[in-house]
Amino acid sequence: MAEEKTCQCGSQCEEESIKDESEIKLQKTVSDIKRKILVLSGKGGVGKSTVSANIAVGLAQKGYQVGLLDVDIHGPNIPNMLGLQGLIPLITDIGLFPIKAYENLQVISIGFFLEGKDTPVIWRGPLKHNMIKQFLTEVRWGKLDYLVVDSPPGTGDEVISVVQLLNKVDGAVIVATPQEVALADVRRSIRFCLEASVPVLGIVENMSGFVCPRCGDVIEIFKTGGAEKLAQEYNVPFLGKIPLDPRVVQGGDEGKPVLLYYPDSEPAKAFAKVVDQIAEALKI
Ligand SMILES: Nc1ncnc2c1ncn2[C@@H]1O[C@H](COP(=O)(O)OP(=O)(O)O)[C@@H](O)[C@H]1O
Ligand SMILES: [Mg+2]
Repeated sequence: MAEEKTCQCGSQCEEESIKDESEIKLQKTVSDIKRKILVLSGKGGVGKSTVSANIAVGLAQKGYQVGLLDVDIHGPNIPNMLGLQGLIPLITDIGLFPIKAYENLQVISIGFFLEGKDTPVIWRGPLKHNMIKQFLTEVRWGKLDYLVVDSPPGTGDEVISVVQLLNKVDGAVIVATPQEVALADVRRSIRFCLEASVPVLGIVENMSGFVCPRCGDVIEIFKTGGAEKLAQEYNVPFLGKIPLDPRVVQGGDEGKPVLLYYPDSEPAKAFAKVVDQIAEALKI
């Protein structure tokens, strides 16, 4: 059809029609997702993947249909954190099928397509953009209430691609640790959201205090309260403090999200409150 409409140059038009087709597919996939949530941080190692996994698990637990997309091409940790390493999504003529992690929760990650877990990915911007586009175009999520996107640190190529391709991101969750250095990076994440017209759902202060299992005293290893102050300064919601807890590390390493496996722990209770606020802010 596109050939008839445009011009006489056959090959170029074929390319155009393929492009049109993938645009249509992308629009269809994106329009089947009710709410899109981006999890961001200025730095690596602050708990973005942990927060993404627990938010996704928490929303699924509430009965929503949830997709978790891991676009951290250089450090895809989501398969491990949900105990899905080694699994390969089904690829068929009609698309790529995400891995079902739990009832209501489907997952897709570049990690599923790497040969070994130590394989480095050396891709530049355009390739990364194409890969993310392919994920969004080809993955058959079906109808989703929420898509949670776990991103690499900072606001580089992957994050920009996601924001562009998803058309509209409904909200960003910014993860920070309480110390000053990390907070300078959070300012950059907030500014990015403002410039990219992504509403900030709020800031989560992770690794906020450690409750001594012996005496019960709280030790402020990275200080505390910085993210809350920053949230006030920028007039964005503060979603809560997640304490440092060995069960979070253990859960991450063993593919057992703390929210599901240690529901009575302090971090699980804090995550549950974060999830409640997100579900409330982005009601279906
Ligand atoms: N609240 C916490 N308490 C203890 N360990 C945590 C906590 N949050 C994250 N971690 C651990 O810190 C490491 C980095 O977390 P991760 O979620 O991979 O960070 P990011 O995605 O920002 O790089 C992981 O080993 C994770 O289990
Ligand atoms: Mg990560």
